[in-house]
Amino acid sequence: MSTINYSEKIPNNVNLGEDRTLQRALEGWQPNFINWWDDVGPDGSTNYEVYLRTAVSVDPQGWAQFGHVKMRDYRWGIFLNPGDANREIHFGDHKGEKAWQDVPGEHRANLRRIIVTQGDTEPASVEQQRHLGLTAPSMYDLRNLFQINVEEGRHLWAMVYLLHKHFGRDGREEAEALLQRTSGDENNPRILGAFNEKTPDWLAFFMFTYFTDRDGKFQLSALAESAFDPLARTTKFMLTEEAHHMFVGESGVSRVLQRTAQVMNELKTDDPQKVRAAGAIDLGTIQRYLNFHYSVTIDLFGADQSSNAATFYSSGLKGRYEEGKRTDDHVLKGQTYKVLEVKDGQLLEKDVPMLNALNEVLRDDFIKDSVAGVGRWNKVLEKAGIPTRLTVPHKAFNRQIGALAGIKMSPEGRVVNEAEWAAKKSEWLPTPEDFAFVASLMGRVVDPGKFAGWIAPPVMGINRQPVDFEYVRFG
Ligand SMILES: [Fe+2]
Ligand SMILES: [Fe+2]
Repeated sequence: MSTINYSEKIPNNVNLGEDRTLQRALEGWQPNFINWWDDVGPDGSTNYEVYLRTAVSVDPQGWAQFGHVKMRDYRWGIFLNPGDANREIHFGDHKGEKAWQDVPGEHRANLRRIIVTQGDTEPASVEQQRHLGLTAPSMYDLRNLFQINVEEGRHLWAMVYLLHKHFGRDGREEAEALLQRTSGDENNPRILGAFNEKTPDWLAFFMFTYFTDRDGKFQLSALAESAFDPLARTTKFMLTEEAHHMFVGESGVSRVLQRTAQVMNELKTDDPQKVRAAGAIDLGTIQRYLNFHYSVTIDLFGADQSSNAATFYSSGLKGRYEEGKRTDDHVLKGQTYKVLEVKDGQLLEKDVPMLNALNEVLRDDFIKDSVAGVGRWNKVLEKAGIPTRLTVPHKAFNRQIGALAGIKMSPEGRVVNEAEWAAKKSEWLPTPEDFAFVASLMGRVVDPGKFAGWIAPPVMGINRQPVDFEYVRFG
């Protein structure tokens, strides 16, 4: 078990105190981080005391401690899962060699790019969510939002530590740039598309944490296999926090559905206008939000065929999801994988070298995982006796990246022409009216135990506290 010295300015289990240069560099970055948090972190939250879970150790029994803290004073720290001195690389061309404790020169540029791209998503989501505290549907939900925000801040710390420790001057410059790009900024946006989209309301937030934080889970899982051991160890620890983010999304959408179903049953109607008039979110709107967040998120996995993906795998930088559980040779040369291509306006499957299709492999793993949770949402409707079911759209629906970007497709997977797309788009993706309606529901409800009318209360509170616990003290 690793221990953490909390008397240090930067809590850590990496013996930061023994590396004065690194410690000074990170202590130099820290005030810039706090300025960033004050500028674009949760709006108006400076004096709030929030019932947060703070990581105090990385061992499974005792890694978290709960208590009211101001978010600025959250112990952002650097925690790596315990190392295994004998760990071997278990995939790619270096399979069987010892894992690297330092960055090999020939992989330096690629590793830096991987770490910067991951690091960039963490502060981006905090920026995207910064206004949501002003319209929280309950104090319980407000606390969950803030918990996610501080953990994404800590994930940024995790990547910045790697940049500072292992990449010298370029690493320090990249760490600064992570605080300078801003989600949605015209001149200096975040690196990936989905992280420049708005998260305008709480339905979008729940869809984001369900789908887009799940992208995080799959990316981090692939990096947790890395031959670069510090990256593997830090991403393993980040994954323990990601689970809560996805829980917030899954349970959030479940509670919205529960409330909608209740209203539909009380009014004996499936008319969206009547559901809306009663202050609940109609199922069509929920489906359109789902379609949007799902399609934007699966774009994050990148082009379906990518020579970079092949290089990252073969050189041991990034594995597959659950690489260790797979029974193939973990080298993948000469193997193939099916991807979709567009030919004469139609979709066809074709076999391509698996190494080049590893983005698609990861995307397909993500899709399986996503579909399972949508099935659990449908159970809420089924239990309430509502016949409508939510579905995930076809993989080629609304794609902007890769071969499928060149095609217009209905959610069910039928190729459509421009005219049909234009005519039906408002049935398939959220419209300005949908956003305006959802926005009209977003009043702030923050008395302990009270909930906005469009969402059901949760089954239980956080850390066995009651649902009406004072999760946030407004200073
Ligand atoms: Fe994260
Ligand atoms: Fe997350």
